[in-house]
Amino acid sequence: MISLVNITAENIHRFLDDILEIERSSFPSPWSSTAFQQETTRRVSHFWALLADGAFLGYICFRMFSGEIHLMNIAIHPKKRGNGLGRHLLAKMIEAGISEGAETARLEVRPSNIMARFLYKKTGFKETGRSPRYYDDTNEDAIVMSMSLLPNRVSRLETDVICQPNPTGEGAAYTAG
Ligand SMILES: CC(C)(COP(=O)(O)OP(=O)(O)OC[C@H]1O[C@@H](n2cnc3c(N)ncnc32)[C@H](O)[C@@H]1OP(=O)(O)O)[C@@H](O)C(=O)NCCC(=O)NCCS
Repeated sequence: MISLVNITAENIHRFLDDILEIERSSFPSPWSSTAFQQETTRRVSHFWALLADGAFLGYICFRMFSGEIHLMNIAIHPKKRGNGLGRHLLAKMIEAGISEGAETARLEVRPSNIMARFLYKKTGFKETGRSPRYYDDTNEDAIVMSMSLLPNRVSRLETDVICQPNPTGEGAAYTAG
């Protein structure tokens, strides 16, 4: 049984070790624990944990402001990848954005991150620009990907589970078979 839980300043201590383990195995320049903790204090930030029967599978962090979703971070446990979980997290993010009136979603991705680029394309994002030397560590450009959330543009989106994360951050927010 899959559940999605809001990560807050109050409960992040329960998840931080798992988050950092996945983060460090996923990115050349992982976020610090402080960076994750700061996200829980930002009014515009949404930070969710994906759990299955108590096991921590991954997380997504995005900000919503000025009618736009900005994806900040997403990662799935290396042993759980390729099972549709990343797509599921993105679908839930977009569903939340639409319900809060966001009109666009945007993200940056490394050109070398082929798997993430596949995932974003499958979700409906399109490459809309480049940010030169966006990544300090490798001096790589970022590919900017965007997606309109206006009603006639999201027909390809798969939103198989119609529930929102638990706003209190306690317990299962929904279940998915
Ligand atoms: C990117 C990431 C979140 C994807 O999560 P995931 O749960 O493995 O992805 P999904 O199983 O939902 O796959 C969705 C799509 O991605 C693509 N994909 C997934 N695994 C793939 C693989 N091994 N090879 C090629 N494409 C793949 C496919 O298009 C897939 O759709 P399909 O199953 O209909 O063909 C995951 O690989 C990850 O945590 N990577 C490290 C962190 C990272 O790079 N985050 C993104 C930063 S921009």
